[in-house]
Amino acid sequence: MTSRAFSPKNSGKSRKGRQAASVERVKASETKWIPFEWQKKVLESTDDMNVVICAGRQVGKTELAIMKAWMAASGGENRTVWWISPTLRQCRRDILPRALKMFKNEDLFDAVVVTDMIMYLNNGSRIIFLSGEQQHADHLLGATLDHCILDEAARLDRKIWEQYIEPMLVVKDAKVWMISTPLGRNWFYEAWTWGKDETMEDWASFHTPSTESPLIGKKLDVIRKRTPKDVFEQEYLAKFTDSAGGAFFGLGACEDKYSLPLEFEKKRSYVCGVDVARKNDFTVILVMDDDGRVVYIDRCQDVSFEQQKARIHLAVKKYGECPVWIDATGLGSSVFEALRNSGLKIDGINLDYKTKAEIIQHLGFKIETESVIYPLGHILIEELQNYQFKRSPTGLVKYEAAPGHHDDCVIALALAVWGKRKSGGTGLWVF
Ligand SMILES: Nc1ncnc2c1ncn2[C@@H]1O[C@H](COP(=O)(O)OP(=O)(O)OP(=O)(O)O)[C@@H](O)[C@H]1O
Ligand SMILES: [Mg+2]
Repeated sequence: MTSRAFSPKNSGKSRKGRQAASVERVKASETKWIPFEWQKKVLESTDDMNVVICAGRQVGKTELAIMKAWMAASGGENRTVWWISPTLRQCRRDILPRALKMFKNEDLFDAVVVTDMIMYLNNGSRIIFLSGEQQHADHLLGATLDHCILDEAARLDRKIWEQYIEPMLVVKDAKVWMISTPLGRNWFYEAWTWGKDETMEDWASFHTPSTESPLIGKKLDVIRKRTPKDVFEQEYLAKFTDSAGGAFFGLGACEDKYSLPLEFEKKRSYVCGVDVARKNDFTVILVMDDDGRVVYIDRCQDVSFEQQKARIHLAVKKYGECPVWIDATGLGSSVFEALRNSGLKIDGINLDYKTKAEIIQHLGFKIETESVIYPLGHILIEELQNYQFKRSPTGLVKYEAAPGHHDDCVIALALAVWGKRKSGGTGLWVF
């Protein structure tokens, strides 16, 4: 008989950045439910918080959330915990039987009434399994909740959260767990950003690709080869992206509160990325330090070539005669030569499909690994958010700003990050 006993030791309220409750297995004599590393981290750091888990397929989201539902119900008397899945069938066929298997040998387990889809505990608490289908939404009214789980949240309509669930949490300051594999950039993406927002203290967000499951690990290498890239990235790497989706993931984690420009520091090395204006757009001169922190952005429109040159020199001089990487597409060799002859340590890249994809993907990697830092609220962030990739029917990937948006800051940033790599972050120029 399998009993997967697991119990939290509450240690009061937890907030972002603080270690909270420790979690330990209690019935060592019985078949164990030992959380995977990532599951343990979530359980231990999120006591009394709203949690958004964006995770890949089969990584163990549902099982973790079933454990959380049990912990919420067993942690106090007469609690009402709701579990909402996109369909009733999922609750009936998958979730309730799994919950039963996991907890039926627990002392606190009382009974399951399958017709009502309710699990009762001896302490007067109950876990109610419900469908989030629009046509059943009226069933989601009238309760005051102690906790709520939204399974596959991205597949639920945002109204289910906004109009039904959230109001039922207010009275008891109850918390929600939203778990899901992403589905493009719908409302679940928005919810995921709340946990990354320092001002939303009682929200925490997690990102867990399928590779984090020890049951999956490297098996994904085979699937990766035969699965379209955007599908693989969404389903297994849990990226908020689709075939016409955003090019960057994890932008919020790179934001920091500071204002530009930052002062030159002698002990640091710098690199400058420049995107020169063409018709109707901006020239952007961006400087980054060896920590990947953006220290300077000059964004200007309608200025002559001579003025642009002067502004590039100004930035370069301010930051220790740093090297410059420029988008030389269409600039013409004479313009580029003129810049080089003016004394700049400059290199240019012609951004065709291939080279553009290369520098943008490199920037994407640096953003995801939080190796870039930029100032909160700057237009650069809006540009990054609205920078997209599109896949042509032949499989060619094209990167560009969404209609109505600019990409000059994005390109200047990508060039600086590319240049930083080329110069090894040491300030040594590599031609
Ligand atoms: N801590 C654990 N120990 C052992 N097995 C686990 C653990 N967590 C999850 N599993 C197993 O991993 C598999 C996937 O788990 P689960 O259904 O929770 O994943 P999921 O991320 O919700 O999947 P899906 O994307 O299909 O909804 C199941 O067979 C489950 O029993
Ligand atoms: Mg699941």
